[in-house]
This record gives sequence, structure tokens and C-alpha cells, in this order.
Amino acid sequence: MKTHTLLAAFALLATPFTLLSASPAGEPFGKMPDGRPVSVFTLSNKNGVQVRVSDLGATLVSVRVPDRKGVLADVTHGFDSAAGYLSDENPYFGATVGRFGNRIANGTFSLDGKSYRLAKNNAPGDMPCHLHGGTIGFNKKLWKVAANDTPRSITFEYTSPDGEEGYPGRLTARVTYALNDKNELRWIATATTDKPTIVNIVHHPYWNLTGDPSRSINDHRLTIPASRYLPTDAGLIPTGKLDAVKGTPMDFRKAHRIGDRVGESFEALTYGGGYDHCWVLDRPKPDGLAVAARLEDPSTGRRLTVRSNQPAIQFYGGNFLDGTVKGKNGTAYQHRTALCLETENFPDAPNQAAFPSARLNPGETYRHEMLYQFGVK
Ligand code: BGC
Repeated sequence: MKTHTLLAAFALLATPFTLLSASPAGEPFGKMPDGRPVSVFTLSNKNGVQVRVSDLGATLVSVRVPDRKGVLADVTHGFDSAAGYLSDENPYFGATVGRFGNRIANGTFSLDGKSYRLAKNNAPGDMPCHLHGGTIGFNKKLWKVAANDTPRSITFEYTSPDGEEGYPGRLTARVTYALNDKNELRWIATATTDKPTIVNIVHHPYWNLTGDPSRSINDHRLTIPASRYLPTDAGLIPTGKLDAVKGTPMDFRKAHRIGDRVGESFEALTYGGGYDHCWVLDRPKPDGLAVAARLEDPSTGRRLTVRSNQPAIQFYGGNFLDGTVKGKNGTAYQHRTALCLETENFPDAPNQAAFPSARLNPGETYRHEMLYQFGVK
């Protein structure tokens, strides 16, 4: 057989496989405002763990994990379709937040002597600030599927044009979700830019390990290996100080029931309406994965360990949930029925020279990796 005939035969044989592996294999999840279809993809493992993610916002839609009796339940807040995630009332359920997660004071920062104005889309304590990437952040963009190895992993990609939401540089972001047979879910965000810019891509799932979204998370036990946290002003912007947690309700170095001290009169808790702060990890591993938090629900035995390469973690106790957001199966999510454990760079880092830099230069690759390890006690 001549070479070209061989090649042709091979091409013919290979075609169906190529087509198959390129198929996004997602299920319909609704539509974007401009009509483009949104999909949801399922990752699964040999233990029956099931994770659903969407190309809308590279969002984590649901996570079904076993309790100590082996009963599977979804442990995240979210919506049944794209419409909920696109709505104004969506408090970033399961989101990939970008370009800059958490708050930027006054919605402004400067870089190389030039100042940039961002949307002031949040105003705790009546102090307007920029939150979670702006009016239409990464969580409301349709990402493309860059690699699809479902049911084990999937990679989404979004290119944010220069100037989008006021940020400089054309930023190409990628997010991979990967599930293994040890009930570990990995979330990896990377980004590159064509101009110096700032970046802090943050993963924003809301956890309730009971699997019952109507139950409070106050009985969950939380550990955060951090001796210092960032106190804030009334607008939840860090003051620049790193305060010791010792002797305060912010001390989670040993496991504490979340509800035990949340009602104490302590300035940080007053400003946050409960826990809504950034803790500075004692032993961060920029090139590895340090434990950032451990969470446990004594009633079901479900456990979650969060590992990350980031220097800090925002623990947000679901204080702004008040029953107005109706999510999966019509559930009205009440006060403190879920919590977020968001590893990140420090909030407002672009304005605070003493904080770790949030700058990304052309030729560099930003990388934020998280590992969610699910287990039972
Ligand atoms: C912040 C909260 C905010 C929430 C928005 C969290 O990351 O810490 O203050 O309300 O995101 O859903």
C-alpha cells in the first residue's frame, strides 16, 4: 500500500474517535442573554461521587458526596439552570470569580502610574467598592470548552478583552475541574496577559455539608491554620494591619463550632454581620498545596479539607443570605445555610503595597490551585 493510501485509511479510522473525543458531551442548561446555549457537564468517580460544572462562569453547580452511612447528597447551594446564575440576585454561587476576587477599595487602583476605574458594585456599610470582578464578571461569561476528558476532568477557557470591566490587558484565563477516585476535586485557574495587569481569580462554592440546604451551618466545625487575620473598616476593606486571632472569636486554629462565637460583640463580626474576613495562612505553599481549612459536619460525618497554593483564605459565613434567593428545587436559601472558603490573595492588594502583589506581567502565568478533599468521620 502506498503511504498516502495508508494515511487515508488511518484518517478514516481515526475520524470517528477524533469526533467523539472532541464532543463536549454536555447537557443543556439554558441560554445566555444573546441566545448562545449554556451546558452542564458531569464528572464522576467509582465511588458514585458526582460533580456538575457549567461553561457559564466555569461554575461548580453541584457536588454529591457520601455521608458516614454512604448516603450521597448535594453539599452546595446553586440554581437549577443558567437563568439563576445569570440573575442579579446570584451571590456568586459556585462561581469562578474574576478578574479580581474580593474587594477593591473605592473601585480604583493604579498600576505603573496610571489609575484605573472599576465598577463600584458593592457597598457594605454604605462604602462603595469593587467586588468580585464587577458588573459582568467572569462568573457571567460563557467560557469555551478547551479540553474535555469527562467524566474525569474538563477545562474551560475565557479571554477577557483589554479594558473589560475597566481592567488593563487582554487576559486569557483557564479553569480545570478534575475529580479522582479518592473523592478529591481539583480546581486550577491559570491566566496570562498581554499587558501588566492585576489578577486574583477566586473559587466561590457555598458549602453545607449536611446535604440539607435548609439547615444552618452554625453546627459545622471549622479549622483555619492562621494566627492572623485582616481586620477591615465598615466597608469590609482591610485596614492594612494583620491582627492576631489569639483570644478572639477569629481564632480557628483548633476546630470550633461556627455558631459558638459568631454572636459575640467583636468589631470584625459586627462589620461583617458575622464571619466575612480574610485569614492569613501560617504556612502557605506557593509552589504546593497547604491546608487552608478543614470543615466537618458532626451530624452526617461529612468532612472537607481545602488545600491551596494561595497566601490567604476568606471565610464567609453566608451572612447575606436571607431567604430571598430561591435556588435548586425552589429552596429559599436562609441566613447562614452555607459558607464559603475562598483561598486567594489579600483583598484590596492592588492598593496596599505591604500586601502580596496581585500584578501579572506579560510572559508570566498566574496559577491558583485548590484541592477539595471530601471524606467522612
Ligand atoms: C464576600 C462577601 C460577599 C459574598 C458575595 C464573599 O466572597 O466575602 O462579603 O457578600 O462573597 O456573595
